[in-house]
Amino acid sequence: MIDVKSFTKIYKLNKKQMSKLKTKESIKKAVDNISFYAEEGKIFGLLGPNGAGKTTTLRSIATLLKPTDGHILIDGYDVVKDSIEVRKRIGFLTNELKLDPHFTPAYTMEFFGSLHSLDKETIANRTKELFDYFEISSFADKKIQDLSTGMKQKLSIAVSLIHDPQVVIFDEPTIGLDIITARAVLDYLRVLKEKGKTIIVSTHIMTLASKLCDKVGIIINGKIVANGTIDEILQDTNSKDLEDAFFKLYKQNINK
Ligand SMILES: Nc1ncnc2c1ncn2[C@@H]1O[C@H](COP(=O)(O)OP(=O)(O)O)[C@@H](O)[C@H]1O
Ligand SMILES: [Mg+2]
Repeated sequence: MIDVKSFTKIYKLNKKQMSKLKTKESIKKAVDNISFYAEEGKIFGLLGPNGAGKTTTLRSIATLLKPTDGHILIDGYDVVKDSIEVRKRIGFLTNELKLDPHFTPAYTMEFFGSLHSLDKETIANRTKELFDYFEISSFADKKIQDLSTGMKQKLSIAVSLIHDPQVVIFDEPTIGLDIITARAVLDYLRVLKEKGKTIIVSTHIMTLASKLCDKVGIIINGKIVANGTIDEILQDTNSKDLEDAFFKLYKQNINK
């Protein structure tokens, strides 16, 4: 499980960032005191527009950023104090992950498998399972630079899951993907859910969230403005669908 408790993240801005953002403030509060809980065997969706704080939150859950305030626990382990234990348990998919274009998919899996201290047989078995599922097998020995965007994204997913993590953190997993590849990715998240994994996925696509997620947290301007099952959010906001609910919440909260 993922337990986010009163989490705040403040970035210090350098001069260049300040001029780019046209601000005189030297700090940016990207996430402002948010709390939510993602359970085992469930898919939690972190929903929000660009700049809302989704990536900041997921990077912090994945131990790559340190919370300015509050705590994040993964299966009871603190992302700051117990970061080694946390890293063993998580798989993190991010758009920033750059695969080496000169490597092959097969070599990339071996490389990341050994980073996780997996033995050769385990790496081979996991690679076969993931490559079969994502139909990467016939590309396994080609250079990554020659693969399509969709194939690279599927490989990134396979890499992030090589160590069979209990907690799966996917940041905008279908961004830039064609409909077939996007479907394969979402179907695999359902497979992981059936295996009892804890899954958190960020997205700005409401229809995706309403089909996929058991619970969602809607984040706007760094604040969670709604949190619960889709039905609960529809009821609370008197909305017909999640997109409708989102726009209502957006109008209410954007200037706060
Ligand atoms: N390294 C950084 N330094 C300064 N500001 C940042 C940094 N990363 C993100 N931000 C700012 O924090 C806010 C939240 O960003 P982010 O978490 O990437 O949002 P999202 O993933 O929801 O689009 C944005 O205003 C963004 O410009
Ligand atoms: Mg983002």
